[in-house]
Amino acid sequence: MKFPFLKGETLKEPVKADIIKAWFWTEKGLYLLDQRKLPLEEKYLFCDNLNKIRNAIKKMIIRGAPAIGICSAIGFVIEFKNFLSSLKGEEFPLHKVEEEIGKISNLLVTSRPTAVNLSWAVSKMRKISLKFLENFKEKIKRTELQELYKLLEKEALKIWEEDIEANLTIAEYGKSILPEGGVLTHCNTGALATGGYGTALGIIRKLYEKNKIKIYINETRPFLQGARLTAWELYKLKIPYTLITDNSAGFFMKKGEISAIIVGADRIAKNGDTANKIGTYTLAVLANFHNIPFFVAAPSSTFDLGIESGEKIPIEIRSPKEVLTCYKSKIAPSKSKAYNIAFDITPGELISAIITEKGIIYPPYNENIPKIIKIS
Ligand code: MRU
Repeated sequence: MKFPFLKGETLKEPVKADIIKAWFWTEKGLYLLDQRKLPLEEKYLFCDNLNKIRNAIKKMIIRGAPAIGICSAIGFVIEFKNFLSSLKGEEFPLHKVEEEIGKISNLLVTSRPTAVNLSWAVSKMRKISLKFLENFKEKIKRTELQELYKLLEKEALKIWEEDIEANLTIAEYGKSILPEGGVLTHCNTGALATGGYGTALGIIRKLYEKNKIKIYINETRPFLQGARLTAWELYKLKIPYTLITDNSAGFFMKKGEISAIIVGADRIAKNGDTANKIGTYTLAVLANFHNIPFFVAAPSSTFDLGIESGEKIPIEIRSPKEVLTCYKSKIAPSKSKAYNIAFDITPGELISAIITEKGIIYPPYNENIPKIIKIS
């Protein structure tokens, strides 16, 4: 068996799960591929409670907007099961269950601030729970809570499955508009960052099937999602790529090597302003200067139509340590100061089109996004 730690455990996963496994979900818990250690080690970390899953999201053991949304939904199910096991007796006060649902939701939603997929997924799980609990007054039986558990499990699997479906559709749409030639991507938007297949990297996978492209990956300092994760995924898929340093992107654009740039997103405001991995904005400005199309690929769960513009998107600031070290080795003098901004905002006017599973959205975004994206 390829994954000996899973011996005897039954997997919970959609039929179309990717061959690259960012996690395994079984009746015992969630095994997360530790993305901090890739590509040097392929180790799965076992999480069987909310704290462990929350911590894994915070520490970026699992990362990428859709992936942290799906894993939060799974975390919700796991913690609800733990809560059920902790209850003594056969009937319980309803308010106790409602309080627990609130606690689980709050802890998950606050694990990372920028990607809206996280709160989108948790809010789906919370709504299902509260709707189910509306059928009861004051007390609820264990058997009824077990019914709710089944509903939650089904919903988490649905969120996961729909994300894979969305990615496959995004890849088809992307294939239809990306020009031939060199394509540059930033960060990691593949199977490691989603339910499977990937958004921007999914399009690249699809384009490669036709062999029309040369793939460039920005290394993506400081966490090196490009060098460590995107390169690892393409290596696993036997797709050739060229890794470049973030600060050489302009050089390759000027040389005419890049025909298009495609990135993912963590949150897209109503006017098309897009939060994505730090460095995305720089790429968009450079693309604009060199007249190169700049595309964003994201599922509808990444849109936040309650936010008019990017100014309102919360930007995560991470530990300076990530800038000052690389693989735990110091790369700057002791006591150096560093500022580690994890995301930036690319204004909608620099984005040629946003590729979603609902269709390709072109400017003006203020008008066109609400026509296509209806958040459930
Ligand atoms: O900090 P990360 O690695 O979670 O940031 C990830 C990104 O910025 C991705 O581009 C984004 O989440 C889209 S993943 C399909």
